[in-house]
Amino acid sequence: MTNFPRIEWLACYRTVLAAAGRDELDYPPVAGLAALRDALAGYLGRVRGVRGSTDTVMVTAGFAQGLSLLCEALPRLGVRTLAIEDPGHSGQRRFIDDSGMHTVPVPVDADGIDVEYLASTGVRAVLVTPAHQFPTGVTMSAQRRRDLVRWAEEVDGLIIEDDYDGEFWFDRHSRPSALQSMAPDHVVYAGTASKALVPGLRLGWMVIPPHLAAMIGRIRSRHDLGSDGITQRAFAELITSGMLDRHLRRVRSRYRSRREAFTQAVDLHLPFARVAGSSAGLHAYLELPPDIDESVLVEAALARSVLVHGGRRHRFGPGEHPAALVIGYSTLPLAGIAESMYAIRDAVDEQRAGRRRPPAAPVHRRVARPAPAGRC
Ligand SMILES: Cc1ncc(COP(=O)(O)O)c(C=O)c1O
Repeated sequence: MTNFPRIEWLACYRTVLAAAGRDELDYPPVAGLAALRDALAGYLGRVRGVRGSTDTVMVTAGFAQGLSLLCEALPRLGVRTLAIEDPGHSGQRRFIDDSGMHTVPVPVDADGIDVEYLASTGVRAVLVTPAHQFPTGVTMSAQRRRDLVRWAEEVDGLIIEDDYDGEFWFDRHSRPSALQSMAPDHVVYAGTASKALVPGLRLGWMVIPPHLAAMIGRIRSRHDLGSDGITQRAFAELITSGMLDRHLRRVRSRYRSRREAFTQAVDLHLPFARVAGSSAGLHAYLELPPDIDESVLVEAALARSVLVHGGRRHRFGPGEHPAALVIGYSTLPLAGIAESMYAIRDAVDEQRAGRRRPPAAPVHRRVARPAPAGRC
């Protein structure tokens, strides 16, 4: 939250409030104020190659609301099952299941979602994170992107592209454009301010295939009559004034140095671990050797004030998977990154030493939960 551009946001809010008229103060159009949809269409075209227009952009309360609207729209298209990536976001899976849609997990490998497997399931809609797969960090390969788009065209299906951290790319190769640019009629592009700014704004956007825009608009109008007009206008101001670009340049450089500190600390303290995926986003996926018990390690890390998630909580299919940690390093202070990796190493050493020792008699004790040093 320390990276939120408070001064710029306040300046935009002031400008908007001083001039606020009917557009900002009356009920907004459910899809969003034209000023923001216009600004987003231009911005997303420029930074992510998204092909959209004012008419196809919808402003939402984060990606979560976009997903909720889509879960209501899909059954109207005769689609009741949504394929999801495995591993994938377990919270999103619960969200989709709770909406009444069924989910089918589809494996992800080093190139992204397995499109052959996807085709074999017979579904017609899929939720993917092509730019930076959650949680593994894989960037979908060019061939896989082509295969996925071909699948969508063949089954007349829909791809939901969750571009949750599309602004953060640290690799020397240029970031592939949004998948949506390859098939705007078959892809809903969804973005969010949750990573670029803060989740508390509850601000997101979708670029919807033109033939679905009116139907999704009707569904939205039964939900909430649109998003707060002043916040929308302030966000439009942040984009068009160039303040968002400047903010992102600033935080990108901060996150890049954290990313470097993180990989150096892994090399130093956890040389047996592998940082998977590409240099993008604000979290890393750390694969660990098979002798490590993931849940024991997560608990032991927490006992050392390091809050990490185990990779297994994001796995849906059966089968054994090597231990992995999902580590959000971007909000940690630089010094805290090395300390956290050292603490994880200590926890690994303890686990390995414990296995070599004869089992001790069980000890019953209460452990106070320490304040987490980092969130993932
Ligand atoms: C995979 C993924 N998608 C989307 C989001 C953003 O969701 P929202 O915009 O509802 O905050 C997150 C979290 O930031 C995420 O981890």
